[in-house]
Amino acid sequence: MKQSAAILAATLVAFVAAEVPQELSHGMFLTNTQTALQLNNRFNIVDPVFGLLGAAAAANGAGDVTDLDCLQQIIADEAFTNALTIEDENQRINSLANALIYRTLEKNTGSVGLASVNCGQVANNPEIAALSQHQDPASDGAQQLNKDIALSLAVQLASVGADPTLALLSGTFVPGDVNDNTGAGNTCDTALDEDPVGCIFTLNRIVADATIDEINQAVSDAMGADAPQANAAMASNLSTLAAGMASGQISAVASDNGNAQASASASASGNLQAFSGNLGGAAPPLRTPNLSAAIQRSCAVQNNACANAANSGQIDANVGDCNAQENECRASANLKMKRVVKARQNGALDFGSCSDPTIQFADGLDGRREASFAPNNKGDFSQGSALNINIISSFICGRLQDSCKADESTVAACETGRAAAQGQQGQAAADAFNAALGL
Ligand SMILES: *[C@@H]1O[C@H](CO)[C@@H](O)[C@H](O)[C@H]1NC(C)=O
Ligand SMILES: *[C@@H]1O[C@H](CO)[C@@H](O)[C@H](O)[C@H]1NC(C)=O
Repeated sequence: MKQSAAILAATLVAFVAAEVPQELSHGMFLTNTQTALQLNNRFNIVDPVFGLLGAAAAANGAGDVTDLDCLQQIIADEAFTNALTIEDENQRINSLANALIYRTLEKNTGSVGLASVNCGQVANNPEIAALSQHQDPASDGAQQLNKDIALSLAVQLASVGADPTLALLSGTFVPGDVNDNTGAGNTCDTALDEDPVGCIFTLNRIVADATIDEINQAVSDAMGADAPQANAAMASNLSTLAAGMASGQISAVASDNGNAQASASASASGNLQAFSGNLGGAAPPLRTPNLSAAIQRSCAVQNNACANAANSGQIDANVGDCNAQENECRASANLKMKRVVKARQNGALDFGSCSDPTIQFADGLDGRREASFAPNNKGDFSQGSALNINIISSFICGRLQDSCKADESTVAACETGRAAAQGQQGQAAADAFNAALGL
């Protein structure tokens, strides 16, 4: 491991001779993202470090990825997807947090003050799609842009149950002098075997993008009053925070992780007030699921997030692009719905070697204080409970395809249910998922 890291580092030195070297500065996030990426490395990507290099150097480790401006996003997206399947909740949240932070790290560019190109694709995971990379702190408007990126990251961290304080670890260096023709600015770049935490932390060079109050405001604006709060004590020394997280002494999990995830799903439903009223109390009343309406809602929720990101300049798109995406979302969902309905008309769906893929929403699962989601059939779908139904539904759909070898229409039905559930909360979310599977 150590040797291969050294070989990789030596190779990189050769590749990046003409680049601003800083791609190893946040080392711990590269290492952890690599672990999640390699769980299922569909595109044969060598290492997340290549996602932080300019296109010419990135090509040497991009595997099958050809859109090199999107390599960083694709790596984060794949690592995030893989992390969703990790059974242990703490490990899962830690891996999800690493993938989110990695997505926002600054990339190398050829000179001080030069911004990197934004990726033009939409990520598979909405949490990753909501983010972009930090820009060179000496580039135009970088201070505000980097703050907005850190605040979006804080919201996405909270939405997966991670501590929003960690968003500050994605920060970059003090701006360099644009007339400095060495290109180095105030950066550092120590090999990971010498400095596994990352030199921006160990050399105390990281600049906080936002204040604790700004983070708390952003998270509660997006998720309501029950959103987890950033931890001012942890934020007071980012080097200590990074070292603690790298050694496992500080957990990525939000201190009130329960509320974090419950509020995230409430916010996605657009019905925050009604849901907050139920937190810790009775499950929301059972509603007859209307799949078609639920899917339309989930496409509309995505459109809102897209429009917000477009209007604030976080993604390189306009509101028209977002509307086009909503139309595609509906068209694709309707197509899947038709296939599902047809498959059901031909008899019950075939779950391959597995049975009962339904999801329950109940109090006291795994000793939790609040109601949560879990598979009903722990034998075929062994996954612990979660407050965010997407963690359970994506696990079940993945299993149906990979292990159970369910047929294509069943997997499509599962994906339809997963989308429908995201527009709902509590028992209604479980009902929407189960109904899509005809159960
Ligand atoms: C953070 O803590 C380290 C280790 O105690 C110390 O060297 C460093 O100066 C502190 N950084 C700040 C910004 O206070
Ligand atoms: C489902 O919702 C859609 C859109 O609101 C509506 O047109 C349709 O009638 C509803 N279907 C049922 C069965 O309630």
